[in-house]
Amino acid sequence: MSGDNYLSNLEVAESQISLLEGLCTTRAIRRYRDEPIPDAVLRDILFAATRGPSGSNRQPYRFVVLTDSERAKQAKSLIATSAQEFWAAKRKNDQYDERSGADPNSPKSRMARTMQEYVDNFSEVPALILPCLVRYRDPSPMEGASIYPSVQNILLAARALGYGGVITGFHGGVEPQLRDLLEIPDQAFIACTLTLGKPQGGHGPVRRRPMSELVFGDQWGESPQWAVDPPGTRHTSAGPPTKEVV
Ligand SMILES: Cc1cc2nc3c(=O)[nH]c(=O)nc-3n(C[C@H](O)[C@H](O)[C@H](O)COP(=O)(O)O)c2cc1C
Repeated sequence: MSGDNYLSNLEVAESQISLLEGLCTTRAIRRYRDEPIPDAVLRDILFAATRGPSGSNRQPYRFVVLTDSERAKQAKSLIATSAQEFWAAKRKNDQYDERSGADPNSPKSRMARTMQEYVDNFSEVPALILPCLVRYRDPSPMEGASIYPSVQNILLAARALGYGGVITGFHGGVEPQLRDLLEIPDQAFIACTLTLGKPQGGHGPVRRRPMSELVFGDQWGESPQWAVDPPGTRHTSAGPPTKEVV
């Protein structure tokens, strides 16, 4: 099965960036060059995925990796349909084409263009990964902590090797068909849909709310004096929902 090929003698590739720089510049990448991801790169990225932590080290994670087989193409176009429907509804409901969205240079309309291009080309993404959690007990919110660190490892390893990707929930609209096609058992929870490829653009730093809004000390809502962003940090106007949090 595994190990009996050249990859079992090949070391994991060297990262060209430091761990901290990588994690501060791992952004959602939705535009890919039309290039397949070599097996050695997929091996390294998925090796990183399988290094993720899990409760009691039970490793309930499994990763379905779809590239260019007939079945992979079917799965990609199935999820593409769901992605297109999902985005069309969100574009309308969130009024992406209203107010500032009417200005083609606004961040809102740039985002709408990126998303439209992403879903239009979804069936051509170089790789699509379905990280799954094989449940061995009743579902609980904490179980996500046994799969999502591995998902982030995928994005970080991709970043380290010059690739990029994004987490989506686009499988949601076609889950039963996807399970049939890929023979995914019922007890395997499909945690997300990840797409991966070589980015068409660059990776800038991620933008978040100021640290002082997000990090508290001894009291909820009170930020410790050391919780300040380093020089040059860029912020975003997006943020947590305004609904009162108790
Ligand atoms: C739980 C979760 C769900 C997401 N769902 C989608 C999605 O359905 N479609 C999409 O294009 N991006 C999706 N994203 C990507 C986020 O939109 C993106 O990470 C966020 O806007 C921050 O951008 P950045 O990663 O470039 O900093 C999702 C991310 C997370 C963590």
